[in-house]
Amino acid sequence: MFSGFISRVLFILGALKLQTQDDHLVIWKTMNAKDYLTYLFPKTLQYRASRFKLLKPGNPITLTYSVTAACQSQCKTCHIGLKYKQDPTSKEKDLKVEELEKIFITLGHVYFFNISGGEPFLRDDLPKIIELACRYLKPRIIHVSTNAISSERIRDLTIQCLEIINESYDSSIPFTLKPSVDGVGDVHDEIRGVRDNFKQLEKTLSYLKDIGKEYSNLHIELGTIISNFNIDHLSEIEDYVHSLGIESYRHEIAEQRTEFFNLNDPITPNADTYERLIRGFVRKIRETVINKKRFTKITESFRLVYYDLAVKILREERQVIPCYGGISNAHINYDGEVWPCCVLGYKKPLGFLREQNYDFQKVWHSDRANVVRKYIKDRNCACVLANQAYSNILHSPTYLFKTLQNFLRFHYRQGGKITSGLIGTTKNIT
Ligand SMILES: C[S@@+](CC[C@H](N)C(=O)[O-])C[C@H]1O[C@@H](n2cnc3c(N)ncnc32)[C@H](O)[C@@H]1O
Ligand code: SF4
Ligand code: SF4
Repeated sequence: MFSGFISRVLFILGALKLQTQDDHLVIWKTMNAKDYLTYLFPKTLQYRASRFKLLKPGNPITLTYSVTAACQSQCKTCHIGLKYKQDPTSKEKDLKVEELEKIFITLGHVYFFNISGGEPFLRDDLPKIIELACRYLKPRIIHVSTNAISSERIRDLTIQCLEIINESYDSSIPFTLKPSVDGVGDVHDEIRGVRDNFKQLEKTLSYLKDIGKEYSNLHIELGTIISNFNIDHLSEIEDYVHSLGIESYRHEIAEQRTEFFNLNDPITPNADTYERLIRGFVRKIRETVINKKRFTKITESFRLVYYDLAVKILREERQVIPCYGGISNAHINYDGEVWPCCVLGYKKPLGFLREQNYDFQKVWHSDRANVVRKYIKDRNCACVLANQAYSNILHSPTYLFKTLQNFLRFHYRQGGKITSGLIGTTKNIT
């Protein structure tokens, strides 16, 4: 069983090479065979063993850091901006760079460094944060999402971040920037709660495209959150994105997360609607994938398996495959609280870095962290958080095998059934 798992992992990882269009999968972009064998694969084994308390969990592969509580938006799908409006002093709790340095020193290497917020570009010292990350975490991918409102600020800080990455670290490291686009024109402004946000988004994109001409490691992508507010506008958004010639586009389902203070909001399209959407997505994939490069076939194979998994989780309201939240992935909130994932977030923190002398390992290996891990292992929660789901798929022989099956079907142009289902969910049993 275990050797079967190993050979499946190796087969799939061996097939993965450069280039993908999905930032959850972009993690593979810079991986080479040596990385698979010396880093990722041993990590997978260690994580599996640590779930059964045979080994301590090592460092997470993916670290998300919400750099600030501040945000100018009033999104209908996320109340971080609203919370900030109600209490602007909350940003005073943002970790200072001196504090962050202490944390990063104790953390060590992570592969994927994901910056979130609040609005990350409201921090003037974002380049310094990137510099610290490069120095101590040595990430292979750095990713930032933005509401794209403060165009000039985003332009200037992006250049500074790229200069730091390229001068003091490694110019081959992808810096992926994802402005959010939840509609075209007024629909976007209405969902994001800011007048002229769409105009600012267009301005930001034009700046970023110019920067991209100078810095080849800047990757621009656009991201849409599919919610009840925009389900009838999805093809319009997609057409718009394609008309811009942006290299990468992805969408996720609006989730209820403690992070967003939206647990009671009916923002998620219902199961029937998901299914309809998924059918459309799957049809598109099947129609177009055959002539695409091997990398795209691989990422689409993963994507279909993710849809399949998401459907099952939504229907059965349980972890269909074990979740490695708090093991493979970690989240540091703006004030230094460490979370296993942003869904459980405030409800199940692993600990507080400010209370533990900024020592990440102390929090990560604390009794409290182990209690939360047991809660997750006992399947008391379930969700389809895409970032985590892709990590979980890597740990599942069955789902890795399904990925392989899809890949082979794509590769050998077989028209057989390709697994598919609903996308995303917010059905959290927390
Ligand atoms: C919390 S925001 C922080 C970064 C920045 N403020 C922004 O909006 O891009 C991170 C990501 O969460 C997305 N998001 C917002 N509401 C969401 C929801 N209910 N479920 C899933 N993702 C959501 C945003 O579109 C963005 O891509
Ligand atoms: S999604 Fe981003 S921009 Fe919107 S309120 Fe949340 S943090 Fe702010
Ligand atoms: S199943 Fe969802 S809520 Fe539970 S730990 Fe995993 S990511 Fe978090």
